[in-house]
Parts: sequence; C-alpha cells; structure tokens
Amino acid sequence: MISKYSKEDINDIENLGQEVNPKFKELFHINNLKEYEIIYVYKENDKILGFLHILDLDKVEILNLVVDSQYRNQRIASLLLDYLFDEVSKPVILEVRESNIPAINLYKKFNFMEIARREKYYENENAIIMERSDLK
Ligand SMILES: CC(C)(COP(=O)(O)OP(=O)(O)OC[C@H]1O[C@@H](n2cnc3c(N)ncnc32)[C@H](O)[C@@H]1OP(=O)(O)O)[C@@H](O)C(=O)NCCC(=O)NCCS
Repeated sequence: MISKYSKEDINDIENLGQEVNPKFKELFHINNLKEYEIIYVYKENDKILGFLHILDLDKVEILNLVVDSQYRNQRIASLLLDYLFDEVSKPVILEVRESNIPAINLYKKFNFMEIARREKYYENENAIIMERSDLK
C-alpha cells in the first residue's frame, strides 16, 4: 500500500535511507521537511519496504527512491513511480550516478530521457540528469 508518510514513519525511512547512503540523515533532515517536500511510502503489514522522496516545485525533483534490498525486483519502485505520475502533472527531474544501472534502467522504462551530465559530480563519478516532461 502506498501513502504519504507520517511522523511515525520517520525512523524507518531514515534507517532505509542510511542503508544506501551513509550520509542520508545529515543530508536530508526528513524529520524537518519543507512544505514542498513529500515522501511516499510503500508498506506491507505496516513495514516500510520502499520510499520515494520528492521536491514539488515548478518541476518535481526526485531526491530519493529506495527499496529495501531484500525486496528489490518486485516492482515496488515501479509502483511508487506509477503513484507519483498519477499525482503530478509536471515535468519530473532527477540525478543518478552513471554506474547505477538498475536505477537508470528503471527511469528509462518510465520514459525519462538523459538531458545533461555533470562531470565528477559524485567525487569521482559523473551524474546523469534525467527528465520526463511528456506528462498530461
Ligand atoms: C533502483 C531501485 C529503486 C529499483 O527498485 P526495484 O523495486 O527493485 O525496481 P523494480 O522492481 O520496480 O524494477 C523496475 C525496472 O527497473 C530496472 N531494474 C531494477 N533492478 C535492476 C537491476 N538489478 N539490474 C538492471 N535493471 C534493473 C529494470 O528495468 C526493471 O524492469 P524489469 O523488471 O521489467 O526488467 C532499487 O534497486 C534501489 O533501491 N536501489 C538503491 C537506491 C538507488 O540507487 N536509488 C535510485 C537513486 S537515483
């Protein structure tokens, strides 16, 4: 089931976020979100198996999309993106590491196109900027 996060979800979201990014807590301060930030959570039996964190500005920016490593390849990220595209009708942009093939494949499947590259954005790695702008 997908819903907007509530305060009780913050610890679990942070723990899941830390698994993929050790600086997650200090970078994203999800206990103190801005009014234009939204987190959607995917839960089964009250357990958070994945989340999607966005900025809802003139464009929507995906800041984090994380699925628990034990539950990957079960379409949870796809369901979260389907949910997002039902909710928003603006262009959606994101940044992804060049080596992150699972994520790049996922976003291509959802019609995101590469619009730019930032050289050495992540220490030694390039970032790919992707956008989907064909919405409604
Ligand atoms: C990227 C991530 C969110 C995908 O979540 P998921 O729930 O496993 O993805 P889905 O099951 O919905 O997969 C949908 C599509 O993504 C692509 N994909 C997912 N995992 C993949 C993998 N290991 N290798 C290649 N492509 C992959 C495929 O195109 C897949 O479609 P297919 O099953 O028809 O081939 C997950 O791997 C994750 O949490 N990674 C760590 C965090 C991260 O890198 N987030 C993105 C940062 S921008």
